[in-house]
Order: sequence, then structure tokens, then C-alpha cells
Amino acid sequence: MDRIRIVGGHALNGVIQISGSKNAALPLMIASLLTRETLTLENVPGLADVAMLLRILGHHGVDHSVDGRRLGAAPYASRAIHLTAGTIVDTLAPYELVAKMRASFWVIAPLLARMGEAKVSLPGGCAIGTRPVDLLIMALEKLGAKVEIEAGYVHAIAPNGLIGAEIHFPKVTVGGTHTALMAASLAHGHTLLVNAAREPEIVDLADCLNKMGARIKGAGQSVVEIEGVGALSGARHAVLPDRIEAGTYAIAVAMAGGDVLLEGARADLLESAIDVIEQAGATISVTNEGLRVRRNGAGLAPVDVETAPFPGFPTDLQAQFMALMTKAKGRSRITETIFENRFMHVQELARLGAHIRLEGDVALVDGVDELQGAPVMATDLRASVSLVIAALAARGETTVNRVYHLDRGFERLEDKLGGCGALIERVSGAG
Ligand code: UD1
Repeated sequence: MDRIRIVGGHALNGVIQISGSKNAALPLMIASLLTRETLTLENVPGLADVAMLLRILGHHGVDHSVDGRRLGAAPYASRAIHLTAGTIVDTLAPYELVAKMRASFWVIAPLLARMGEAKVSLPGGCAIGTRPVDLLIMALEKLGAKVEIEAGYVHAIAPNGLIGAEIHFPKVTVGGTHTALMAASLAHGHTLLVNAAREPEIVDLADCLNKMGARIKGAGQSVVEIEGVGALSGARHAVLPDRIEAGTYAIAVAMAGGDVLLEGARADLLESAIDVIEQAGATISVTNEGLRVRRNGAGLAPVDVETAPFPGFPTDLQAQFMALMTKAKGRSRITETIFENRFMHVQELARLGAHIRLEGDVALVDGVDELQGAPVMATDLRASVSLVIAALAARGETTVNRVYHLDRGFERLEDKLGGCGALIERVSGAG
């Protein structure tokens, strides 16, 4: 198992290229199941989750090829991928595959819409709370599917096809909205989504589906209208830049100090996160190439944040921002409203000398003058990168164990930070 070793205390200066978004790429890849023609996705990030989803889609009959890959290059590093689901060979998604990546549950929507049947394993436990799929199932039932849950599997059938309907989400759900968009695109008639998620990744999926011939209006707003079509075609679509990766490196610069251009990052995708990082003491400016982030000398100010659906502060940046606040001059209050149990990083940050007290869904962070390097353990994707951020400003050496979590969501993290002056290296192998 690989580890990452970091020696703190070095400012970041240079350019970091922002990759394609993981959370946009995954549903876009799944959308390839909706058509027998080829869907070409450009700017797909080279991540373990992408490689895993290609395997899962292959199981259902999706062939893929990767453009212009040179010998020795990282397997899927920001490349174009062609996906063709000419024939669906299996509508069953087994536990062994779905358990590896929760988002693969979303295959239920295109399989059901195209084939009239899907049997998909429940995703099972997850390190960040229970993460149910009841609202995804509710959406499919509203569209006329008959759904049964048996022996850990969700079995959905719609032998005569899905039928457009009005779907009210009692809670904003990204996965629920992706699922409803895909299913309703091939349903008979008109669908209305109310209280839909407004995340940029939803807009990216809707844009791609529209290029494939779907008729979706209003994606990015809470009410979305979909007019079902008989079949979808192939298309070419570029995955939007990863706002969570961009926000993470912006926080890293705020923590370590320095001056970094985040090439390809877009301010409109980060919304409130930019305000929050600026309030903490960094300067962020929009340039033709992306976002420039700077922090010189001055201390960090404590900022209270509360996670919320887009355009609020993203839960996927909560752990990283908490790492930053461990060195603020005073107390900050960080409230997690989206996921229960998304505070596993707290214990590990404490090992580096952070002072954090948990009160239900609130973390009270009292900034300290100095963090000290220590061996720590990555527990999930965002928690692991928060440890990297803390380590950049800690005295001495930090080793982050179990970095496979990082590889799921961050493309070449040690190269990107190392290229800007961080002392960081990957140590491969066991032990
Ligand atoms: C997606 C993102 C994840 C991000 C999250 C919130 C991907 C691959 N993952 O996850 O990185 O942290 O959005 O921005 O894009 N809920 C229910 N019932 C359901 C579905 C969800 O109660 O059927 C609840 C969840 O437990 C959670 C909330 O709704 O409390 C939001 O979850 P959701 O937006 O669905 O997250 P994901 O789509 O799983």
C-alpha cells in the first residue's frame, strides 16, 4: 500500500493544472449506457474511480478505448475516452462491483430506461454515514417502475417503458437528480423535477444528454423539465474542470503561503467557497488562464462555515477547510449539514496537534501556532487530502497511510504539489 511523505514548511509557487471533474465524469460515463452509439468524453481525469467505473460498465457491455495514449503514460490521465454500449449484455450489477464505488448504483437509471429492467446491489455501508438510496428509488417509482428490494438488491422493472411524472425531492440529492435526469430522458412524455440539485455536475450531465438528443430545460435551477425521447444518439462532450480539486489547491496555498495559478479553474463553479477562502486570508483573482491564489505572510483569520447544497459551501471541501482553520488565529465553527459522520479527519488532524471539539454536527476549531508532523491514516477521499494540507504547514515529517483513498479523487496530487515547491513524495509498497 502506498504512502505519501510530506515535510512541511515550504510555500507553494507555480502553476497547477486542474483536471476534469470526477463527480461530473462518473455520471457522464454512466450515461453511455443510454445509447447504442458512441459517447466520447474529453478531459476525463486519470483516477482510480474512473478506472473502476470502466470495469463496471464493461460488465454491462460497454466497450471503451482511450485516445492518444502514449506508452508509459498514466492509464487514463485526462484523456478522451470513447464509450460504446452497442449491446447491453447484463442488467445485473453485482454487490462485488457496486460496493467498490457507491456512484455505480446510478447505472440503475439507464439500464431500466433502455432495457426495461435492472437489478442493482444496494451500495452498502460507507465511511461517511448511512447514505441511503430511498430518494433514487422514489424517483424511479414515480416514473412508473415497479421496484422490489430483495436480498440486498434493488430490482426495478418497467416492461412497457418509463412514463414522465412530477417528482418532488424532499431533500436535495445529487445522485437522485442524476438518476432522474437519465431515466426521464428516455421516458414517455413530460417530467418535472422539483427541488432538484443545482450542482455544476448536474448541468454538465444535462448538457451532454441534450447533445445526445435529450430535451432537458432548466438544469442548474431547482425546477427542471424533461421531455422524453424515443432514443438517444452518440455525442462528444468535454468534462468540466474539477471545482473540488481547484478549491482544495486554493486551500493548500492559503495554508502553505505562496502564489499559484490554478490553470483551468473557474470561479463560477466555486461560488461561496472563494469568499470563504478569501475571508481566511488568501487573495483569489480571476485571470484568463484560471484562478490565481496568493497568501503572503499574514496570519489566517478564523471563519465560520456551514456546508450546503450548491451554491453553498460544498461538503466536499469541509475537511480541507477545517485543516486550514487548525492554524487560524482564533476559533472557527464548522457545521456539516449534508452528511452525518463526515468528521473522521478530526481524530487524525488531532494527531498533528490540532485542537478540535465536536458537538454533534458542529466542529469547534481552536487555531494553534504550530502543527507537528506525525504518521496519520487516510479514512476517506476528502479526509485524506485534508491531512495533506495540514502536513504542508506542519513542522517536520508527516506520513499519510492508505493513500488509495486519495488516488480515487486526486490526479497526480504529489506531482502537482511537488511541482510548486512542496516537499512531497510517494513511497510505494507494503509496510
Ligand atoms: C454526491 C457527490 C459527493 C458529494 C455529495 C453532496 C458524486 C459521485 N458524489 O454524492 O462527492 O459529497 O453529492 O454534494 O457526485 N440522501 C437521502 N436519500 C437518497 C439520497 C441521498 O437521504 O436517496 C441524502 C444523503 O444521505 C445526504 C444528502 O441526501 O444526506 C445528499 O446526498 P447526495 O446529494 O445524494 O450525495 P451523492 O449523490 O451520494
